[in-house]
Amino acid sequence: MTREEIEKMLSGLAELRCKTEKEVEEARVKLLGKKGEITRMFEEFRTVAPELKKEFGRSLNELKQAAVAKIEELRASAQGASSEGKSKNSDLTMPGEPMPLGSRHPVSIVRQEIVDIFRKFGYDVAEGPEIEDDYHVFEALNFPANHPARDMQDTFFVSAGHLNPLLLRTHTSSIQVRTMETQKPPIRVICPGRVFRNEAISARAHCIFHQVEGLYIDENVTFADLKQAILLFAREMFGADAKIRMRPSFFPFTEPSSEVDVSCNICHGKGCNICKGTGWLEIMGCGMVDPNVLEASGIDSKQYSGFAFGMGVERIAMLKWQVNDLRHYFENDLRFLSEFSTATEV
Ligand code: PHE
Repeated sequence: MTREEIEKMLSGLAELRCKTEKEVEEARVKLLGKKGEITRMFEEFRTVAPELKKEFGRSLNELKQAAVAKIEELRASAQGASSEGKSKNSDLTMPGEPMPLGSRHPVSIVRQEIVDIFRKFGYDVAEGPEIEDDYHVFEALNFPANHPARDMQDTFFVSAGHLNPLLLRTHTSSIQVRTMETQKPPIRVICPGRVFRNEAISARAHCIFHQVEGLYIDENVTFADLKQAILLFAREMFGADAKIRMRPSFFPFTEPSSEVDVSCNICHGKGCNICKGTGWLEIMGCGMVDPNVLEASGIDSKQYSGFAFGMGVERIAMLKWQVNDLRHYFENDLRFLSEFSTATEV
């Protein structure tokens, strides 16, 4: 054993390359195995002259440590290479694992659908406060003070006994008033929003629900325009073969007023338990805006006329999915909500 031999081994180690774990193991056996080169050098050490033992001993130990470290290093990189492709996380350029997404609430889905239909017809979206005053919810909408029509909508009052008490809006018609106050005709808006009524909670009634109301004001707007707008909406919402019928009704802010039924999309008019055998489903109230309402908001009722309509979002959702207990829409039971996860993949 010579100094040159040890030097040569050391530089050989630096250049050692292995691709696979098998090659690494072969290299280890060749160097450090029982018959390996370094093992053989340790055996030869016994024959080294005593005065050289110290120097050779140190260099041999260094060589062995370098060899062990090199083999470890080669093994680690060979393992990394072989697991590449097998491991999901190794390619950092791959797109991430999809996160499980929640679903939109069925009420949001239907509200958006209604809004999208009217947007297509050229309507703007208007919003307003949920805590309103008496003026915008009743007074400006032709509900005279102390008139029994106010009882139609069981109101939650926030501050009573005031000239213009604050209350939770019972319909989004208040947004229509605010729109008429600030915009000049032609006006074409839809007003989605949450409304509140002091009702006992049951499968058919809730103290909170959602509405989308609409208002169209221009010169020469007629009842025929109203009928056409609602028919087009019904066809978009319930299918191309949907029919509508109008029944006379009463609202203080419209004259004439009407309630709208759509042909039952379940039995197509034959009669089923959803339409209670009638073939028709009630979907909204509507009418021609009362001239008093136009005038109260500063719109000349001799020059302009208009129509308004309003529908309950939960009601439309019930018809769409036949979920006939209103309470489901407010309890946020995940088992219920997850039923709608595919409905969001639009
Ligand atoms: N505001 C009425 C309601 O809440 C609905 C409606 C709106 C009726 C517009 C006619 C015209 O019941």
